[in-house]
Amino acid sequence: MKTKVYSVDRWNPESDIISEAGKAIRDGALVAFPTETVYGLGANGLDDKAVRKIFAAKGRPVDNPLILHFASPEDVEQVAYVNERAKLLMDIFWPGPLTLVLPVKSIVPPSVTAGLGTVAVRMPSHPVAMAFIKAAGVPIAAPSANKSGRPSPTEASSVLADLGDAVDIILDGGATDVGLESTVIDVTDKVVVLLRAGGMPVERIEEVVGRVVLLPGEEKKKRSPGTRYRHYAPLIPLYLWKDDCDWLRPEVAGKRIGYIGMKEPLHPVEEKILFKTPEYYAHGLFSAFRVLEGRNIDIIIAEWPEEAGIGLALRDRLSRAAGLGK
Ligand code: TXA
Ligand code: MG
Repeated sequence: MKTKVYSVDRWNPESDIISEAGKAIRDGALVAFPTETVYGLGANGLDDKAVRKIFAAKGRPVDNPLILHFASPEDVEQVAYVNERAKLLMDIFWPGPLTLVLPVKSIVPPSVTAGLGTVAVRMPSHPVAMAFIKAAGVPIAAPSANKSGRPSPTEASSVLADLGDAVDIILDGGATDVGLESTVIDVTDKVVVLLRAGGMPVERIEEVVGRVVLLPGEEKKKRSPGTRYRHYAPLIPLYLWKDDCDWLRPEVAGKRIGYIGMKEPLHPVEEKILFKTPEYYAHGLFSAFRVLEGRNIDIIIAEWPEEAGIGLALRDRLSRAAGLGK
């Protein structure tokens, strides 16, 4: 079937388009939609067959579980055991770019959870996402709407380029806000554990729950399946500017360079995309990767940002895009 692409008014989503998308979900179709972080590839999260289509469309390893998206915190009770700490976090940070991992109830098919005893839940703040989830009337399972391993899509055109006919409907609500995915934390236990840095800075979560534990590499791979795989990679080799010596690496010498960062590049480059703040850097990172892929350059060099705030998530995406693990 040919993909239907609908352009949707972000602040006042057209109700006929939204109800068509909601019905498509109940009929087992795949619908890509904008969230405040990145575009998601949605299916009925309670329909095993529909969820499996997501994995097929993305070429995603089946041991990497999905996030269920909700239009209200109360609806989460249907799929997970919600403890007091989780309720407090939902109260303060939802809707927004924070995903909570909680003990799962048996209604959720194992294709969503990869057979783990937990499920990841979040309530996005994008008005199109909210309207769409409400219209569907079921939890929406949705990973980022890119081919597995590629940069996450921050625009509808990237969804179409990556997934094309595998998606039934794409809701085009313009560019996303944050540009990086949600922060994922495990709140099943007394100690809150960071599974993926993202749009919600850890410092803000710590103001509410105290210390958040960052896992060392190997432990993280065990508990956070998504971090096992290379991710976010542009088609052109990416090198990080952590130290000025990085500009003198043999891989860089004589190459046509595309640069992204906040500071001016140290040496002349063919193409550059500059951002004013770490937040703009996050907002534009994935789309900059995709833009530079279309330019006449051999490599990309990206500035390594400070760790504070969104910087932690930027560092995570940059190092994984460069194939460095963490
Ligand atoms: O911002 C976002 O989170 C976007 C939008 C579309 O909501 N979604 C997204 O989904 O980034 P995805 O599938 O690309 O990443 C989900 C992450 C993966 O790292 C996955 O391993 C982790 O969440 N995850 C999901 N369920 C989990 C669970 N039960 N335990 C541990 N990690 C889990
Ligand atoms: Mg993803």
